[in-house]
Amino acid sequence: MPLIPVTIDPLGPDRSYDVLIEAGAIDRAGEHLSRFARNDGFTVVTDTHVAKAQLPRLEAGLSAAGIALDPIILSPGEPTKSWGELAKLCDALLERGIERSDHVIALGGGVIGDLVGFAAAILKRGCNFIQIPTSLLAQVDSSVGGKTAINTGAGKNLIGAFHQPAFVLIDPDTLDTLSQRELRAGYAEVVKYGLIGDPKFFDWCEANVAALLAGDQAARAHAIATSVGAKAATVAADERETSGRRALLNLGHTFGHALEAETGFSQRLLHGEAVAAGMALAFRFSAAHGLCSQPEADRITAHLRAAGLPAGLADAGISASGETLVVHMLHDKKMSGGKLPFILARGIGQSYLDRDVSLADVAAFLDAETRRI
Ligand code: GLY
Repeated sequence: MPLIPVTIDPLGPDRSYDVLIEAGAIDRAGEHLSRFARNDGFTVVTDTHVAKAQLPRLEAGLSAAGIALDPIILSPGEPTKSWGELAKLCDALLERGIERSDHVIALGGGVIGDLVGFAAAILKRGCNFIQIPTSLLAQVDSSVGGKTAINTGAGKNLIGAFHQPAFVLIDPDTLDTLSQRELRAGYAEVVKYGLIGDPKFFDWCEANVAALLAGDQAARAHAIATSVGAKAATVAADERETSGRRALLNLGHTFGHALEAETGFSQRLLHGEAVAAGMALAFRFSAAHGLCSQPEADRITAHLRAAGLPAGLADAGISASGETLVVHMLHDKKMSGGKLPFILARGIGQSYLDRDVSLADVAAFLDAETRRI
């Protein structure tokens, strides 16, 4: 099973780490994680849902190597990524006497990974943490690369830090307990890597999506390994999103952010669903401006729909005007110098960062999209 290195700033202090992808890895957690344990124990942070499905496996896996587990169990869902929960978590970690050299384990989806990562970034000015992502979205995106954050009243992920994990352990078997809807939403972030820079992987996605969503082990291992490989290379090249390379990972996110804001960041539209619709919109916008061909944009729309994902405003249940959606975009944290950068495409696998997109054009395009079926 693959061990993918994430090489961060090779000339600076050593912050590089490995991502292990192995079916059943949680059952063998003692073997994989014993080198990180202090006094034969770990503090593990998770949520009530994941605790039910995965904590007993992790406990058994660690105890096989004589390692004890001290769980902190939080409420599931986005509201947990808040100042209040962050403060409570930091207090709980301090009460347990966590030291800077300790490794706190984040067991869960993106919410747990982002919150625990941020707590680790600030606790005693920085302690170590290990990601054990249990959702497809967290496995292929948020657990790798060190973006950690909480939400505030002003918006999502506005307070946070870049803080790389010490190790990422991905066990694709955790996907067995995920709902189909969550699995599909995570799949949007898988397809994204093909659309950004790997047309052959997009071909593979078209041929294998049904098997992957049905739980085929080989298909999901390949999808996760390819996605993590692409993410690792991107993060190694541009850890802090300064050169523009890491910004490509935001394909579909600016359009998607407007859709999430319009639906109140609620269960009406999951993040991955908004990204799927946003990627289709980004390609159709690119086609409308002669950047990529219309058949390529249509191919993406068809694929996302075949995967059971929304590929436009109507699919996402949105009838707002272009102007309303653009106003949502202006609250995006990616605004820079009064401009909003967009990820557009010259073709499948040829995404690029465009800092000169006219918001009037975007609003007109979205108005035309609201009239589309
Ligand atoms: N999820 C986008 C990034 O990690 O940069």
